[in-house]
Amino acid sequence: MNVTLKQLKVFERVARRLSFTRAAEELYLTQPAVSMQIRQFEEAIGLPLFERLGKKIYLTEVGEELYKLSRNIARQLDEAEQLIEELKGTETGRLRVSVANTVHYFAIRLLGEFCRRHPKVRVQFKVTNRKGLLQSLEDNEADLLLMGKPPETPELEAESFLTNPLVIIAPPDHPLRGRINIPLTALADETFIMREVGSGTRNSVERFLEERGVRLTVSMEMNTNGAIKQGVEEGLGLGIVSIHTLERELESGRLAVLDVESFPILRQWFLVHRAGKRLSALATEFADFVRHEAQHFVRNDIIETALGRSLADLRNLDPDPP
Ligand code: PGA
Repeated sequence: MNVTLKQLKVFERVARRLSFTRAAEELYLTQPAVSMQIRQFEEAIGLPLFERLGKKIYLTEVGEELYKLSRNIARQLDEAEQLIEELKGTETGRLRVSVANTVHYFAIRLLGEFCRRHPKVRVQFKVTNRKGLLQSLEDNEADLLLMGKPPETPELEAESFLTNPLVIIAPPDHPLRGRINIPLTALADETFIMREVGSGTRNSVERFLEERGVRLTVSMEMNTNGAIKQGVEEGLGLGIVSIHTLERELESGRLAVLDVESFPILRQWFLVHRAGKRLSALATEFADFVRHEAQHFVRNDIIETALGRSLADLRNLDPDPP
């Protein structure tokens, strides 16, 4: 049987997703390239691997059997790759990091410095939402994640490395700007632009409001922090975002943080990897770098001025309450 590793890898992904389109996206291939690999695989074994019913594809009997085998092979290939990365040490090799949309603002600076110290490493850096992050760990496509509090499961190891305050933002000429300790009830007259369902920021905001019996008028939903900030600047409503997304706007005075009762909502950023996964020397070094250096890559001066208090004060509050 003349089957290549590439054909096996493509087949494994199509079979896992039961979709040529998703497999192509995830493997960074075109759909015709995926179809061709599958066709060549089928020609090599002389049997069809998939059958099509309407718009859906299904594995044939031989497809099912080969899927079980190819999963084992894919896992072993991953282990071999891991071993090779390990042998390459920290000076060359590949680092795969996936981060939440909200984290990428400072994570890119962090990564920049890490790459300056390790100029020969290759980096795969993926920015996605919470659901996508957990999926990339499960699919073994990331060594490390930087994200909000992950689900508590024995399959993940997580460690917090930085405080993440969520704040209410307004245009600089907003009438509530400058008022101190604005009661939550005063927000009833405002409209809000909210993050999409599936965002960690949105989850926390909803939980926070529910615990306090507060309902906000949400006029719009947007799926990036960048869009929300621009919407707020344009006067479309108020927004609730991580202060780590705001450094440029606060520095230039394009946006203001409102001083609202019980705010900021205090969260933490976490470093996450699969429990039991042996991290390469490079991934271990990056994890250490994040642990010890992340705090130097956020502008604490701007943050403290906007919050009107020191970060040391915030540390006395309870972050990420259950
Ligand atoms: P997000 O941030 O809102 O961009 O998903 C991640 C998180 O806070 O969990």
